[in-house]
Amino acid sequence: MRITVPDGPLDAVDLDAVDLRDPVFHATGDPHAVWRAMRAKSPVHRQELPDGRSFLSVTRHADVGAVLRDHRRFTSRRGTLLSILGEADPAGDKMMAASDPPIHTAMREPLAKVLSYGALRARQPDIRLVVRRLLAPVADGGPWDLAEAVAGFPMAFTGALMGLPERDWPYLTELTTMAIAPEDASFVDGAGHGNLVTAHHELFEYFAQRIQSRTHRDDLIGFLARMQLGERRMRLDEIVYNCYSLLLGANVTTPHAIAATVLAFVENPDQYARIGDDPDAVADAVEEGLRWSSPANHFMRYAVADTELGGVPVRAGEALVTWLGSANRDERVFTDPYRFDVARQPNRHLAFGLGPHYCVGAPLARIALRLFFGELVALASGFELAGPVEHLSSNFTAGIRRMPITVRLREHAAATLRDAGGDPIPSDPILSD
Ligand code: HEM
Repeated sequence: MRITVPDGPLDAVDLDAVDLRDPVFHATGDPHAVWRAMRAKSPVHRQELPDGRSFLSVTRHADVGAVLRDHRRFTSRRGTLLSILGEADPAGDKMMAASDPPIHTAMREPLAKVLSYGALRARQPDIRLVVRRLLAPVADGGPWDLAEAVAGFPMAFTGALMGLPERDWPYLTELTTMAIAPEDASFVDGAGHGNLVTAHHELFEYFAQRIQSRTHRDDLIGFLARMQLGERRMRLDEIVYNCYSLLLGANVTTPHAIAATVLAFVENPDQYARIGDDPDAVADAVEEGLRWSSPANHFMRYAVADTELGGVPVRAGEALVTWLGSANRDERVFTDPYRFDVARQPNRHLAFGLGPHYCVGAPLARIALRLFFGELVALASGFELAGPVEHLSSNFTAGIRRMPITVRLREHAAATLRDAGGDPIPSDPILSD
């Protein structure tokens, strides 16, 4: 998604002509200008589609928080992504992300324990090794496509945690991107809905086979397979949906947080220079990068009964789409919201959501992002763009698919990188429960 700093008059945007569902608009249009106008003039804004479906766009921080926090008024059971607006989600009540408490809680509590900071601490050296290997090509000094290079990064921490073999990582990275950007030009036939169906089918089939082949041992899939839901074990379809959700949750977000943050550094070299080698400063910069990029662009809920939001009546069964990228620029919450400020305090961003569905992978994502930027800061004194930036056509992932850059290396960095290039990617299991 294009990240802009809108500065024209609010009236320049015709809110009734805007189509926030259009994936291409997020790659080539100006969503930030639209959201700024919506927050000011129509913070809960109804969009009608030509086929009769409609949804409410929720753009203010407080309203987004009110929706995400309140599962009794706003359910996840009918699906949470605009791509299936109006359709019943087959994963409803089976996948953590598409369920409400108490079913949701029964799945989430055990998973949250194995994905906590404490449980993941021992993984850090492995992830650091992966980062070093990933960064090794910059030693050559030539243009390096950062967006392409980091696209597969989550496989090395989430895929590895799930015990997925390294030979499958590129295939799974491709499929998860296709699931959230089926209309993107990189999927050449441009089949849109067809691509979505294909991606879902192949991913579900892949996980079903892995679960049934019982090759998993002490990994996250094994953990899910042994998990109790009340009196019973999880069923195959429930394990498949949750595997899908975990991998998707990691793959289609983390790389884009990295790319958009580095692009912000290209545009704001003074902010990059401020980080230095202080781990706390790196952690703060990661949070600002999350606010700035808001890689998970929206989540949807349905109103359980007639209600109201921000004074706007909401009918039972209506879909509400919370735009996290907009909430994270709300001038009511963030001072100077369009300034990229690596030391921003406080930083109450909603990039990981809020309430019962608050990202269960947030500790893992934060660990991976802090390690990535810690290594990057140690190696690179700055960056320049080496070609055009291409944005992903997706209304769900605010993403970058190509971003060639050149990296200015610090003294001695080239030798360190060359050494790291030979390290193997760790692939051993992982979890004890
Ligand atoms: C920068 C990286 C990430 C961002 C921005 C992000 C964002 C989000 C957001 C906004 C939600 C809330 C969904 C809702 O309210 O319906 C969420 C939930 C979720 N995320 Fe993440 N995520 C990231 C990384 C990860 C990782 C690494 C994993 C896997 C380990 C993951 C797995 C999930 C799952 C399974 C849920 C559903 C949680 C639930 O329903 O309780 N995410 N994520």
